Amino acid sequence: MITVAGLSVFAGDRALVRNVSFEIGDGERVGLIGESGSGKSLTALTVLGLLPEELRATGSVLFHGKQLLSASERELSRLRGNALAMVFQEPMSALNPLMRVGRQVAESTRLHGTRSRRKANEKAQRLLESVGLPDVFRAYPHQLSGGQRQRVVLAIALANDPALLICDEPTTALDVTVQAQVLDLILGGVAERSSALLFITHDLAVVARVCDRLLVMLDGEIVEQGSTREVLTAPRHEYTRKLLAASDLEAA
Ligand SMILES: Nc1ncnc2c1ncn2[C@@H]1O[C@H](COP(=O)(O)OP(=O)(O)OP(=O)(O)O)[C@@H](O)[C@H]1O
Ligand SMILES: [Mg+2]
Repeated sequence: MITVAGLSVFAGDRALVRNVSFEIGDGERVGLIGESGSGKSLTALTVLGLLPEELRATGSVLFHGKQLLSASERELSRLRGNALAMVFQEPMSALNPLMRVGRQVAESTRLHGTRSRRKANEKAQRLLESVGLPDVFRAYPHQLSGGQRQRVVLAIALANDPALLICDEPTTALDVTVQAQVLDLILGGVAERSSALLFITHDLAVVARVCDRLLVMLDGEIVEQGSTREVLTAPRHEYTRKLLAASDLEAA
């Protein structure tokens, strides 16, 4: 579904992401791991067409055969929130602080097809219920906890049954007790829709649980990729071995 080939991201002539290639199949769950600054978020932002203006991407990102690197902003914004959806670390950045959350979920369904306001509101309420928030339709984002806000963001991301959901450290900013809950909702949400998942995290225990396949980034490059099992039980790259040794998974 997504084929990334020879992708590089530059700031001036400095390469921040170098010659990255990977594929994500329909419904596949792929984990992207690697140390801070290795280029994980930039890779995800490039796929979404959300690179900051000062950065430049070269190579190829094909989504169902369509070249996203040369797509217009109009085409990209049509894809985003529809076929391609995302959940980032900080839910407030994805929400409008001045709009009730039910309306925000409803708008996201209206942007992509559901015309009638009543139907959109009903759908929004169902989506909020599906992430365990039956009573927040009329609340403003600041009235919710961090975990609840992230669940609203997830409801918006899933509103149009995306082909691919990209999650960039979706639970890092949350209390440990709600991390597992939000993770379960993400997994349930993509499973129900057969959406593919690109999951960025520092947490190897999470990728071990969530992902079919892993990509390991170091200094802007993918240094290793393979099935989660292969990578976690028989890592080939020195850096992956170090990551594993530093995690609690080693004993497993
Ligand atoms: N707009 C920008 N201009 C210049 N350099 C940038 C810009 N955005 C990111 N970088 C640099 O690119 C590199 C990769 O950044 P990126 O955010 O992709 O890392 P990451 O793997 O997501 O790290 P983390 O795990 O901390 O989120 C870093 O060295 C970062 O400082
Ligand atoms: Mg990042």
